[in-house]
Amino acid sequence: MQKKLFIKTYGCQMNVYDSHRMSDVLAPLGYMPWPSSQDADMVILNTCHIREKAAEKVFSELGRLKAQKELRARQGGRMIIAVAGCVAQAEGAEVLRRAPQVDMVFGPQTYHRLPELVARSLRGSGGVLDTDFPLESKFDHLPEESHRQGPTAFLSVQEGCDKFCTFCVVPYTRGSEYSRPVADVVAEAERLVAGGALELTLLGQNVNAYHGAGADGKVWGLGRLLRRICEIDGLRRLRYTTSHPRDVDDELIAAHAVESKLMPYLHLPVQSGSDRILEAMNRGHSAEDYRRIVERLRNAAPDLALSSDFIVGFPGESAADFAATLRLVTDIGYAQAYSFKYSPRPGTPASLAETQVSEADKSERLASLQMLLGEQQIAFNRASEGREMMVLFDAPGRKPGQIVGRSPHMQSVHVTVPVPAVPRLRGALLPVHIETGHPNSLAGRLELCDAGAILSDNRCPQTLGVPA
Ligand code: 5AD
Ligand code: SF4
Repeated sequence: MQKKLFIKTYGCQMNVYDSHRMSDVLAPLGYMPWPSSQDADMVILNTCHIREKAAEKVFSELGRLKAQKELRARQGGRMIIAVAGCVAQAEGAEVLRRAPQVDMVFGPQTYHRLPELVARSLRGSGGVLDTDFPLESKFDHLPEESHRQGPTAFLSVQEGCDKFCTFCVVPYTRGSEYSRPVADVVAEAERLVAGGALELTLLGQNVNAYHGAGADGKVWGLGRLLRRICEIDGLRRLRYTTSHPRDVDDELIAAHAVESKLMPYLHLPVQSGSDRILEAMNRGHSAEDYRRIVERLRNAAPDLALSSDFIVGFPGESAADFAATLRLVTDIGYAQAYSFKYSPRPGTPASLAETQVSEADKSERLASLQMLLGEQQIAFNRASEGREMMVLFDAPGRKPGQIVGRSPHMQSVHVTVPVPAVPRLRGALLPVHIETGHPNSLAGRLELCDAGAILSDNRCPQTLGVPA
């Protein structure tokens, strides 16, 4: 009998990938994707522990689910509630204590054991817990990924982190660095492309620390892996995230110089522009090192757009340290970036520091950093006006006739076309003439030809009116 499975995903893209794979593991047990928790036989919250806010969201969601589970029981049904991901890994049995309505708690490295966990949960009465770091790799025990529809796909190639930045829970929740063998990654990439993906994004907490075993007996770095994947026929675009400045090597920089399928966009978190703070964060590089790396990347790929993560109010951050962050941002010039107030996380060294920054200072610094980053993002988007760029359309927009895609630089691009063309354009990679750069997106014009041409080969040979 078919059962309804709802997975709610929080946090990073690795969680998005994991959620798809959980669904693959559960499919042979009769669980089929279901769009909401209403009437679901199983609800999995795939959680994020990176900042306190993210972790607390899970418990309020569990409160809502408790009421639904009770309603289900009164109607003679049963809803299994599972907490997966990094909150599960970090808090383990504490989740069951705080939320006894939860049936299963398992971490990011054990979800290949879901069939056994489900069986145990259906047999017993108490919550089932599995937060091991097993010796076996989950990747060796997962079924082949189901054929996903859609032009873009994620592919996890690396997991975990050995860097131990003093603010970060990842080394504790995801475990130590692990790279999948090259042959496995290539085989999965080929299957995804054969299943219709035009763009792949390779994922890893520290994706450029990738050091996978090659069939040639050598250890391959990310640069070499990217070049191998670019050889796949039918693949049009390749991306990767998230990178660490310390692991940017010559091979990776060279890949950007020569591979046209490798998109000119790089998320390269720096966190702070102050050497004192970078040292206290245990980042292993200075602000000057970062500037030099960016310079080398830009020499190799002049139109590379950069993105970053920043933390403001790290313990001990002075006004002068924060000013150094603003200076670095001004020097680099970002296409977009994420910025956060420092959030003390249990078990991390920085959370024990006595020099915590006041909430008021954090808020003020975040506002001024976001203002500067916002200005840079608008300037970057405005500079796209009048240009023609290839856009991979992957979703309908909110308004009728609107379709949304991504530029090579990861900007959202909206175009309006005749309503019947919208479904045909999904998965098309087409040149778009950019008319307006908005703060968070671009608006452009697509000279539509006979939409049938788009259907047949993903290209529109009669694209008109687009300046060369
Ligand atoms: N507080 C605030 N931001 C954090 N990040 C990681 N840990 C913390 C924390 N304790 C941010 C970093 C990282 C991004 C994924 O989340 O900027 O790059
Ligand atoms: Fe966390 Fe630092 Fe590892 Fe990134 S490099 S996952 S911020 S410990």
